[in-house]
Amino acid sequence: MISFLKSVIAVSVVTVLLFVVACRPQSKTSGKPDLQVEDLLAKMTLDEKLGQMSQIDPGFAGGEEQLKKAVRDGRYGSFLNMFGVERVNEIQKIAVEESRLGIPLLIGRDVIHGYRTIFPIPLGMAASWNPEIIRKAFRISSIEAASQGIRWTFAPMIDITWDPRWGRIAEGCGEDPYLASSLAKAMVEGIQGENLKDPTAVAACAKHFAGYGFAEAGRDYNTTYIPEPLLRNVVLKPFKAAADAGALTFMSAFNDLNGVPASGNEFTLKKILREEWKYKGMVVSDWGSVTEMINHGFCANEKEAAQKAISAGVDMEMSGSSYSSNAKQLLQENKINQAMIDDAVRYILKVKFDLGLFENPYVNPDLEKSILKPDFLDHARKVARESIVLLKNENNTLPLSNKIGSVAVMGPLADSPRDQLGTWVFDGKAENSVTPLHSLKEFLGGERVNYVQGLSYSRDKSTAAFQKCIAAAKSSDAILFFAGEEWILSGEGQSRGEINIPGAQDELIAELAKTGKPLIVVVMAGRPLAIGNTLKNSDALLYAWHGGTMSGPAISDILFGIESPSGKLPVTFVKGSGQIPFYYYRNNTGRPASEAFYTPIDSIPQINPQSSLGYKSFHLDYGYKPLLPFGYGLSYTTFDYNNLSLSSLSMSASGSVKISATVTNSGERDADEIVQLYIRDRVGSITRPIKELKGFSKVHIRQGEKAKVEFTLYGKDLEFFNGKDYVIEPGEFDVWIGPDSDNGLHGEFTIQ
Ligand code: BGC
Repeated sequence: MISFLKSVIAVSVVTVLLFVVACRPQSKTSGKPDLQVEDLLAKMTLDEKLGQMSQIDPGFAGGEEQLKKAVRDGRYGSFLNMFGVERVNEIQKIAVEESRLGIPLLIGRDVIHGYRTIFPIPLGMAASWNPEIIRKAFRISSIEAASQGIRWTFAPMIDITWDPRWGRIAEGCGEDPYLASSLAKAMVEGIQGENLKDPTAVAACAKHFAGYGFAEAGRDYNTTYIPEPLLRNVVLKPFKAAADAGALTFMSAFNDLNGVPASGNEFTLKKILREEWKYKGMVVSDWGSVTEMINHGFCANEKEAAQKAISAGVDMEMSGSSYSSNAKQLLQENKINQAMIDDAVRYILKVKFDLGLFENPYVNPDLEKSILKPDFLDHARKVARESIVLLKNENNTLPLSNKIGSVAVMGPLADSPRDQLGTWVFDGKAENSVTPLHSLKEFLGGERVNYVQGLSYSRDKSTAAFQKCIAAAKSSDAILFFAGEEWILSGEGQSRGEINIPGAQDELIAELAKTGKPLIVVVMAGRPLAIGNTLKNSDALLYAWHGGTMSGPAISDILFGIESPSGKLPVTFVKGSGQIPFYYYRNNTGRPASEAFYTPIDSIPQINPQSSLGYKSFHLDYGYKPLLPFGYGLSYTTFDYNNLSLSSLSMSASGSVKISATVTNSGERDADEIVQLYIRDRVGSITRPIKELKGFSKVHIRQGEKAKVEFTLYGKDLEFFNGKDYVIEPGEFDVWIGPDSDNGLHGEFTIQ
């Protein structure tokens, strides 16, 4: 069938060209027509076209025989959650050899942070600020996934969020558009590889377009209201980066965006994605998000939902049949037109041709060996290590000496193989996880490790084992407490109202602190938790996220100083839920707070006259600062920043300026530092954030040595959307180079 198709394609080039010119004047896919696509499209019946626009999970196909018949009849273009060499090849063979046109199926699955070798949750990876290692992690994920027949993944998830209550914060790159855009590019490049036709290339899917991360109160699937400047200056930035990096597909989101659900939203899908960005890839809906527009109150029934989604440009419906059941009638009634259907099918076929599925539809069983290879695991360990952020290290408690007599190891995450994998793991296996307990025993020898779990899972409120923990602590030289959240407390549908460390963990940590033994807390969680108490009670604190398969060895590497921690927070840490949202990229307000006016709510009661002193933007109980700022992270060494220098004090909007600083490693170990560049546009036609990240660089600096770190800032980097246009406005700018969003050397320049 494939060779037949090829010969047909060859002889019909001329006909196709004529067809394109004559019949498609109103098509959205301007530019050079893809002859293979056009040729095939011309042969397709309406039913076959609607088949290509439909995707389901095989579990919903109504049984094995129905599934096979549907494939034979060309009623599906894609499956999600079908995998395994034999299974995929069996069903693909039916599509290729027994369906009328032999169009191969596109097999998709969520491979979010690893297939079998699980990397840290994406938020953790983002803490590495290292696009190179992230690109490689996603390449490895694709190699493993493709070996099981998966050629399309619903990743990267690049929703910016400012709300740690939202469970899906775990899946994204954090709060900042610049960092998220840099990482989105790396992720897409890693997923797709260098050659799309390579059997290990997997189509990426930038999701969820758009605004899903702004769910009100962090309640999953909730309404979002996002003013256009915020949408364009923040939310859409990583999506644009993914499109520019060549992401073959996009996914339309679940949320209601400013009154129009994202899966029927012509403004985002048509105007921005297709018209402004000229995006040529395929758009798939989220699971059932087309017909959920009925619940949203945007469509009366499935037929109207199909009409609105098709009209907005959602090319493929995930897990639903509203397209296949209603499109014919919608065409007859002129509620949609043939060009809409044809364009959708063009985009879908194009992905299949791009991936080489027509030439090479089957999975090569030899690829099966590409699972959990030692170098994959080594890379998972490296990424997990670089994702760890040191948040406190009083009296140089860390690193521990490997000569230490004994350590008390405790906490619900010390030996919890499934939890450390994190959310969105379908194919990773707990039995492959190396836990902190396991690797500490390997590192120190079992006899030097006194393990008492203390709490059997993260929400455990029982104090029954407290005394045993205290006794173990007293008879050891240091306490290593592995705190955090179970994997099931973050991810889709797993939002929390309070984001404290759950169960009796805080209480137990407070008791352990009283023993006077060095107390090191390692937090393994799917979100930035409100860790204020624990931070206070511990001598050292490492934030290790859900670090994946090799989380244990990575944590040991850091604990024992095999490598100095280098991660920095990709998200602001709040003191408590009441402080949400709190992000560094905020506007200044008319009354920015400063310490002078801060009156803690628990101070001695006094009778104050009503006065405007202290009428500033802060909370009485939280103050005006978050717990920890975006970009923050310590090292086992110290870095001094000096000599900020600008190549020029002014530039034109089309020009550039070089900004540099000297960073000296003034401590006693070689280490990496993530040097960050921020700017502030002092006055704008709309108010501008008090800081915006515009560059970062991870540099390795040897003990006692210095590095000159230089950034080039182009006028274009200062562009923003002001509600009407994208503008670069003349005026004065602040610039900082520093270790985080709250500190740095300051300079200034102007745009002429
Ligand atoms: C999620 C998507 C995911 C899809 C398929 C949905 O519930 O929102 O992110 O890709 O399911 O599993």
